[in-house]
Amino acid sequence: MIARSSIQKVVETSRVEEVVRDYVDLKTRGSNLTGLCPFHKEKTPSFSVSPSKNIYKCFGCGKAGSPVDFIMEIEQYTFPEAIRHLAKKYRIELEETAQTQESIDEALEVQSLNIVNQWALEYYSAQLWESDLGRSIGLGYFKERGFLETTLRKFDIGFAQDEYQAFTTESIKKGYSVDLLKKLGLTSSTGNDFFRNRIIFPIHNQGGKVIGFAGRVLDKEAKVAKYINSPETEVYKKSKTLYGLHLAKTAIRKLGSCILVEGYTDVMSLVQSGIENVVASSGTSLTEDQVQLIKRHCENVIILYDGDDAGIKAAMRGIDMILKEGLNVYIGLIPDRDDPDSFIRKVGYEGFQKFLQEEVKDFILFKINLLKKETQNDPIQRANVINDIVGTIAKIDDPVKRSVYLQNAAHFLNIDESTLISSANKLIKEDIKNKSFSAQRKALDHDEQIIKEQEEIISFKKQNEPYLHKGDEFQEREILKILMLEGDKKWRQENITTAQFLVGNLNDVIDYFDNKLYAEVLQQVESLLKQGEAVNLNYFLHHPDKNISHMAIELTSSPYVYSNNWADKYGIYLLGNQSDMEYSADDVEKIIKHIKYRKFHKVILDIDQQIKAAPSFEEQIELVKAREELKKIKNNLYEEVWGGFK
Ligand code: CTP
Ligand code: MN
Repeated sequence: MIARSSIQKVVETSRVEEVVRDYVDLKTRGSNLTGLCPFHKEKTPSFSVSPSKNIYKCFGCGKAGSPVDFIMEIEQYTFPEAIRHLAKKYRIELEETAQTQESIDEALEVQSLNIVNQWALEYYSAQLWESDLGRSIGLGYFKERGFLETTLRKFDIGFAQDEYQAFTTESIKKGYSVDLLKKLGLTSSTGNDFFRNRIIFPIHNQGGKVIGFAGRVLDKEAKVAKYINSPETEVYKKSKTLYGLHLAKTAIRKLGSCILVEGYTDVMSLVQSGIENVVASSGTSLTEDQVQLIKRHCENVIILYDGDDAGIKAAMRGIDMILKEGLNVYIGLIPDRDDPDSFIRKVGYEGFQKFLQEEVKDFILFKINLLKKETQNDPIQRANVINDIVGTIAKIDDPVKRSVYLQNAAHFLNIDESTLISSANKLIKEDIKNKSFSAQRKALDHDEQIIKEQEEIISFKKQNEPYLHKGDEFQEREILKILMLEGDKKWRQENITTAQFLVGNLNDVIDYFDNKLYAEVLQQVESLLKQGEAVNLNYFLHHPDKNISHMAIELTSSPYVYSNNWADKYGIYLLGNQSDMEYSADDVEKIIKHIKYRKFHKVILDIDQQIKAAPSFEEQIELVKAREELKKIKNNLYEEVWGGFK
């Protein structure tokens, strides 16, 4: 274990701007730095770094925290791993404290396996680059295939000589234990080298540590397995590994999508051509754990498999699982018996991009096309096709997304939508029945809670008519009060005023304000601030528009009577019910989050309508994607506001 004092030292030494800069291009803006968020896809920067507070925050996706949090998030490290990473960056020597014998043994075992794997990687790499045979046979082989040296280095490619014990003998000479060599499968039980006369592909975990190897024969005609692989060990779990993820994860986050291919050389070839968000499932069919790995980084999976029957089958198997995890699936079949590697060599980067844009299809179109072709006019086959497609759609958790797909399936298959809906619902109900009680509870979406909440508020309002008007008016009033009373004050330690902070955070929902006068005031303030003007209470109190000045007087002088349990009971979150009460910055942030949460709910309902009315499938899909994003933001807000209450 790392000593507490060492952890402290790392935490105190780490500077957020220095840590983030390793991943994000930052520009100075006032006392803060901004850049494109590495955790979600965006075109304009909403990722902000505050050196004075030593924290980062994304106003788009809500991710925020310390330098340690940043490393944990971006590298998907555990806390100790992040501390070790930062210690290395800042050259801090870590002091380790005593542990139980058991955990020491375990950690030592893992550490030794890692060390031996790293040794093997270096050994095979040296064989490729430094031995005569390695250079002539190994490098020659790759050169012939068109791989550049930089690519081979990037993937730590190596070469194993055609000898029985060269590696094992050298390893023992260097002091590595035979037991460990055998455990890792590098040496066979009889003491021979496992990899002989093969190209070596090291397999890394997502942190970049080598955890296993694959060896490919050089001789196509040889009657041995084309690839052989390291066995499973404590450090290498096949089903939890994606080849190339350590190199691809940054691009996957940036682009918001992950390309999934079958082979090692496919990954290498695409990366060499400039397509970096690519990983391989490496021969095994895609597993749930692998999908989970992808899900940590993005929401869209593009499956690129060979266009042969095996490839199509593999793609089909992947679809349902990926959908079940809540990710979007797109599929492209590589034409003409090519694989992604040979295909990109033929068509180049541009041609490949064109293929991605034109030939990669949303899974439903893909499935429908394929199945339609297979079954032309056979009514029984047709019924099977319909069941198959409905079965796949039923895997989608999100009801709106699901209904869009059902609508489209009905259209493309030329059958009645309600038939599809009812058979999908049947499947879903069966599925829920099989779930545990707690999972069923969880399945109750936030949306349902909000609807209930709103119904309660409406019935409450009916009894308290004089105080309340409609919708979110209570919360909106609060915002206006803060704007008038606190607007010209400095916002926290930053170079902006509270009014700037308020408007900056609310501008995307102003249109959704129930009270149109409030919305108008906010818009006016927004444009004034843009022109560099300041606003203060006097501005509102003496506003030429009588509606506004009266409102200002009323809002800032007549305290509302409001009961403290309203927040819990009705979701009404007010703080400043006395007119002279000061709002803390934390209060203001909470109030903003809460009103945004409610407004986003309305925006989403709006989009639901638009989805139903959209003229084309493509536009529907775009809207569904937008809705997904909003929902994510909304759910984050939910956690922040309601999490804070409990
Ligand atoms: N594979 C495997 N064992 C085999 C054959 C294949 O593990 N005996 C896995 C490997 O991960 C391989 C992938 O399946 O990369 C795809 O196989 P294949 O298309 O045959 O190989 P390629 O990767 O295309 O290799 P190459 O281009 O060198 O032929
Ligand atoms: Mn290939």
